[in-house]
Amino acid sequence: MSERAKRGDAWKAILGQKLASLQELFQSDPDRLDRLTAEVAGVHFDWSKTHLDGALIEAFEQLADERDLAGARDQLFSGAAVNVSENRAATHVAERGHGDPKQVAQAAARHQRMRSLIDAIESGAFGEIHSLLHIGIGGSALGPELLLDALGRNLGGYGVSVLSNIDGQALDDAVDPIDPETSLIVAVSKTFTTSETLLNLNSALKWLKEAGIPDPFGRVIAVTASPEAALEFGIDETRILPFDEGVGGRYSLWSSVGFSAALALGWQAFEELLEGAAEMDRHFRLAEPRANAPVLAAFADLLYRQKLGCQSRAVFPYDERLRLLVPYLQQLEMESNGKSVGRDGKPAGRPTAPVTWGGVGTDAQHAVFQLLHQGSDPIPVEFLGVIEQEDGQDPAHHRALLLNAFAQGAALMAGDPSDDPYRATPGDRASTTILLDRLDPRTLGALIAFYEHRTFANAVLLGVNPFDQYGVELGKRLARQLGEPESRDGFDASTRSLIERAGL
Ligand code: F6P
Repeated sequence: MSERAKRGDAWKAILGQKLASLQELFQSDPDRLDRLTAEVAGVHFDWSKTHLDGALIEAFEQLADERDLAGARDQLFSGAAVNVSENRAATHVAERGHGDPKQVAQAAARHQRMRSLIDAIESGAFGEIHSLLHIGIGGSALGPELLLDALGRNLGGYGVSVLSNIDGQALDDAVDPIDPETSLIVAVSKTFTTSETLLNLNSALKWLKEAGIPDPFGRVIAVTASPEAALEFGIDETRILPFDEGVGGRYSLWSSVGFSAALALGWQAFEELLEGAAEMDRHFRLAEPRANAPVLAAFADLLYRQKLGCQSRAVFPYDERLRLLVPYLQQLEMESNGKSVGRDGKPAGRPTAPVTWGGVGTDAQHAVFQLLHQGSDPIPVEFLGVIEQEDGQDPAHHRALLLNAFAQGAALMAGDPSDDPYRATPGDRASTTILLDRLDPRTLGALIAFYEHRTFANAVLLGVNPFDQYGVELGKRLARQLGEPESRDGFDASTRSLIERAGL
């Protein structure tokens, strides 16, 4: 451990630091833009409109030393049991070819199995197939759906309906556009016990049966880390795609969980996605903290959460194809770091993950940006844009889209010192901008891996375990109990009365 790490007073240094205004920071440091921007795998990051400065970065580097961020990162990439509460490795990086050779080899073999099944579908082993019904929830749906929505426009080929919600209306909506005669079901569940997914799967099997499909089970592909549970459910071994237990749900799109996306987007696109993520992995492993995109992003996150007490952060992709990034990040960041307990089982001792929210630009400008500019609480904002236009419309659209994104960042920083109190905006509000050269599998892979490592860096610096999610268990248990009338007596009066009123 370095001398600096031994001092143990990094938080004191960070919290005691006086913040200069953004305008002052730009005026006092002509190299600010160079210092606070980075390029990785076709993605440009700009933190210059945050309040990070040389002294703060140094204090955060001290925190990284104290928390041994480099050691924690090495452990992640060596396949060690970094998920301490569940005593297992977090193997999403092995899916991209990094880490323990055994884990990497196993991931590669499972990708091969995925590919063989894709080849079989394409060569007609299941008859004529045009559509997939992808069933899964949380991490078993949000990642694949983001990939399909971001990269799957104008491809032709397979149509994919994603079904997650247990609401029968969601099932109606998902099966409505697809023909049971030419559809396969892809049932994705790490545990293969999730009640929403199993009920939706049973109903989808019924849908196939009612349509006269002779062997509905023969139309199901199960993707799971619990192959025995899928076998017991009735899925034939040849149609089970396993993935490693160490691949957490919200980190899983790189594994067989990405099957629907790999089939619909094409195997080459899936491989490029993995390669883009691997580029970000290499950057995260090798770049020094002050030039390391996920680490600098975590420094800025912690600055706003810990020093300014910001309870939320807002994300606005200025690209329709990235509209599902916000729900994806909500799970990644809030399920990973929304904890009050540290890795050591003791109270975390400081605020952890803020609420992640957002929307798509320019729609969000005309709905929620009022609060960002004039609301009582500052909220750090993240803008995303894509330089290359791919839609076939008049370039005026794309030009206006990006100009709006950049204008919002400038407005948040500059404010308006109008004499009219109704019109004045305080300014000095922070934003980060992430610009992709183009939106393709490689840049999207790099972007998603950036968010994963940023979440990991935040967790290490906060001292929490980002790879478990015990907080979601109680609600699941109580829903099961409420389903049994004899177990309801112990519930509060409000809950019992709601059940009675709904006639359940
Ligand atoms: O309830 C939360 C959760 O366990 C998520 O972490 C996970 O992504 C989701 O449910 C789905 O779980 P599974 O893949 O096991 O069905």
